[in-house]
Amino acid sequence: MGWNFFTIFIVLLFHHSNANANAKQSCNFFEGSWIEDETYPLYNSTQCPFIEHEFNCQRNGRPDQDYLKYRWQPHGCSLQRFDGGALLEKLKGKSIMFVGDSLSRNQWQSLVCLLYTSLPNTKYNATRVGDVSLFTFLDFEVDVMLDRSVYLVDVVREEKGRILKLDSIEGGKLWKGIDMLIFNTWHWWNRRGTTQPWDFIEIGGQYYKDMDRVAAFERALFTWAKWIDTNINPAKTLLFFQGISPSHYNGTNWNEPGVKTCLGQRQPISGSTYPGGLPPALTVLKKVLYTLIEKPVTLLDVTNLCLLHKDGHPSIYGLTGMDCSHWCLPGVPDIWNQILYNFVVTS
Ligand SMILES: *[C@@H]1O[C@H](CO)[C@@H](O)[C@H](O)[C@H]1NC(C)=O
Ligand SMILES: *[C@@H]1O[C@H](CO)[C@@H](O)[C@H](O)[C@H]1NC(C)=O
Ligand SMILES: *[C@@H]1O[C@H](CO)[C@@H](O)[C@H](O)[C@H]1NC(C)=O
Repeated sequence: MGWNFFTIFIVLLFHHSNANANAKQSCNFFEGSWIEDETYPLYNSTQCPFIEHEFNCQRNGRPDQDYLKYRWQPHGCSLQRFDGGALLEKLKGKSIMFVGDSLSRNQWQSLVCLLYTSLPNTKYNATRVGDVSLFTFLDFEVDVMLDRSVYLVDVVREEKGRILKLDSIEGGKLWKGIDMLIFNTWHWWNRRGTTQPWDFIEIGGQYYKDMDRVAAFERALFTWAKWIDTNINPAKTLLFFQGISPSHYNGTNWNEPGVKTCLGQRQPISGSTYPGGLPPALTVLKKVLYTLIEKPVTLLDVTNLCLLHKDGHPSIYGLTGMDCSHWCLPGVPDIWNQILYNFVVTS
C-alpha cells in the first residue's frame, strides 16, 4: 500500500515537471502585446530598393514614424531578433515560395528586404516568370519566390465565362519541389461587382451564379488541404499558412465609432485583446488546418497582432485612395517574418 502510494507520488512528480518543460517549449508566439522599442523597425525603407510604391509609406510622405517603433512581445517568451545571415545559412540551396494574394506580396517583399538589408553586399538576381516573381540570393543559392494565386484554387476562362473552380487546383503544379511554402487566401473571396474576377462558381460539375462566400472559401480550403495531403512530403517541405490579415475600416471595432478609415492612427491598441473580436474566416481556416494531421501546416496566426496594429496600414500613403488592408514596409509583415524566422531556426 505504502509502496503504491510512493509510486504514484513519483509518477505525479515526473508528470508535473514534464508539463512545465512543455509549457516552456511551446510558447504561443501569437498571444502577446505591442511594446515600444526604439531598436525597431528592423530596416529603414531607404536601405531596401525593392519596396513597391504601394507599401513604401515613408517615401510616400507619411509624416509619423512612431508606428514603426514597436516590437511584438509574446506573453510566454521573447522572439529572437531576425538574423538574415543565419536564415540564409540555414536555408542554403533551398527554395521558399509565398502563394496567395497581395498580402503574400506584402510578406514576400518584407522577407526580401529583411534578408537584403542584413547582407547588403550579397549578390542577387531579381526576375519574373509568368505569375512567379523570383528573388535569388546567389551566394547562398536561396530562392525567395512569390506565386500570385489569389484563391489558391483555379480561375479558368471557358465558353460560359470566367469560372472559379472550387474543386480544382491545377495551379499547384508550381508548388511541387519547393522546400518551404507559405500560403494565404481570403481577401478576394468578398469581391463583388467589377472587382470580382469570375462569372460563375463551379462545384462538383455544377455552375452557380453566386453562393455564400465563407462557404466557398471553406470548400476551396478543403481542396487545397487535399492537394497538400496528396502532393507534399512533410520530411522535405516546411508548410505554413499566413492566416487572415485583417483590415481597419470600421472604428466601432476599436472603440472609435464614426471613424471609417485607418487614416491618422498613430499607435497600436495596448493590451492583448481587440475589442471587435476575430473574423469568422479564421475559424474556418483553423477548422481546415486541423484536418491536416499527417501533413501539419503551421498557422502564422497573425490576425490578433494585426488587429491590434491599426496604425500599420498605408491609408493615403499607398498606391491609390485609402488602403487600410495592406501594410507599410517596414512594418507589420516584418514581424510575421520574424515569427516565421523563429519557427524555422528552432525546427
Ligand atoms: C531612415 O533613414 C533616413 C535617412 O537616413 C532618416 O531620415 C529616417 O528618419 C530613417 N527612418 C527611421 C524610421 O528611422
Ligand atoms: C538571372 O535571371 C535571368 C532571368 O531568369 C537569367 O537569365 C540569368 O541567368 C540569371 N542570372 C544569374 C546570375 O543567375
Ligand atoms: C461597424 O461595426 C459594427 C460592430 O461590429 C457594426 O454594427 C456596424 O454595422 C459596422 N459598420 C459598417 C459601416 O460596416
